[in-house]
Amino acid sequence: MLTLQRRYNSKAPATRYADSAGPTGTTTPQEVGLKRFPMRALITGITGQDGLYLGELLLSKGYEVFGLIRGQSNPKWEHVMQQLPGVTLIKGDITDMSSVMRALSVAQPDEVYNLAAISFVPHSWENADHTIEVTGKGVFNVLEAIRIWSGPNLDKVRFYQASSSEMFGKVQEVPQRESTLLWPRSPYGVAKVFAHYMTVNYRESYGMHASSGILFNHESPRRGPEFVTRKITQAVARISLGLQQTVSLGNLDASRDWGFAGDYVEAMWLMLQQDQADDYVIATGETHTIRELLEVAFGHVGISDWERHVTQDPRFMRPAEVDLLVGDPTKARETLGWKPKVDFRELVQMMVDADIEDQRQTSR
Ligand code: GDD
Repeated sequence: MLTLQRRYNSKAPATRYADSAGPTGTTTPQEVGLKRFPMRALITGITGQDGLYLGELLLSKGYEVFGLIRGQSNPKWEHVMQQLPGVTLIKGDITDMSSVMRALSVAQPDEVYNLAAISFVPHSWENADHTIEVTGKGVFNVLEAIRIWSGPNLDKVRFYQASSSEMFGKVQEVPQRESTLLWPRSPYGVAKVFAHYMTVNYRESYGMHASSGILFNHESPRRGPEFVTRKITQAVARISLGLQQTVSLGNLDASRDWGFAGDYVEAMWLMLQQDQADDYVIATGETHTIRELLEVAFGHVGISDWERHVTQDPRFMRPAEVDLLVGDPTKARETLGWKPKVDFRELVQMMVDADIEDQRQTSR
């Protein structure tokens, strides 16, 4: 009931909440004072790791959740429906502004979370044009669709943009914070910078409640196997079960600030509950090399001499590398009250355990 009191009490901090403590059982959207319950959210990129965690979080808070999903018969449709019972999927694509407008009309959202992107960095050198179209211009399409759809009442939709620590690229200061100069090192990073500044621009030009979360690497058992954490935890699981001998990797000296995706989606939600839209670095503040990742992952299954299971292959090296990412999440901690709950070791161990379970099930 605390949440409801906050919503009704004008003296309470002017923070918008639609928590699970609200009037449960209400399924029809209705006006509650100036605020609506249940709140409605549209998530683009709902099929990805973050989309699924965010969908779960919002459903648990009593939101009506809508997801934009691409393609004529997207095989991920069933998976999303299984993972997020109650979600409504709408066909559309952020490269097609008219489909985003249609999705807005169907969802009538209070909040839009733009998580859609071509997110695998190496892919962006091979498919730069497509990456720019989706990860860069796609964000302009969503912002512009919201602006047109909202008409004079632009305040009715709050917008979240998934910005990335990849924008820091050749880092100009350590640790990286909101004010650090951006120096992207891949077409993906460049596209994210465009999207980031478009978001800032819509906030400053039109007064839109548009926030950017500059998220450092965030992982989970739901991470795609092309990313280095999952590639390693999957291989470690298979090696420990005798199903494979070695794993082939690229640069082992790159450093990343890795957190748990489940923690990071909470920060996204918190950003949209603030009176003022803003940009926030979301990170753990700790950095680890790929070597350390290997040590923890192999160590968890009792293998200390991991080097004999790892080979290096130039195919996995990048034309330009981001060597050292470590974020300073002070602003998020002080303003949003956000901090990560899962540390590096727990994250890696959680992923190895999940992959062992997964491998056991598939080999049954
Ligand atoms: N993927 C991959 N595969 N990376 C490898 C490998 C390998 O075999 N070997 C070494 N690496 C190194 C890469 O060179 C990079 O320095 C680091 O591992 C992390 O690579 P990824 O896990 O692919 O993630 P990323 O940092 O490029 O990008 C991820 O994080 C960004 C946030 O900073 C993605 O999720 C991006 O979408 C996200 O914006």
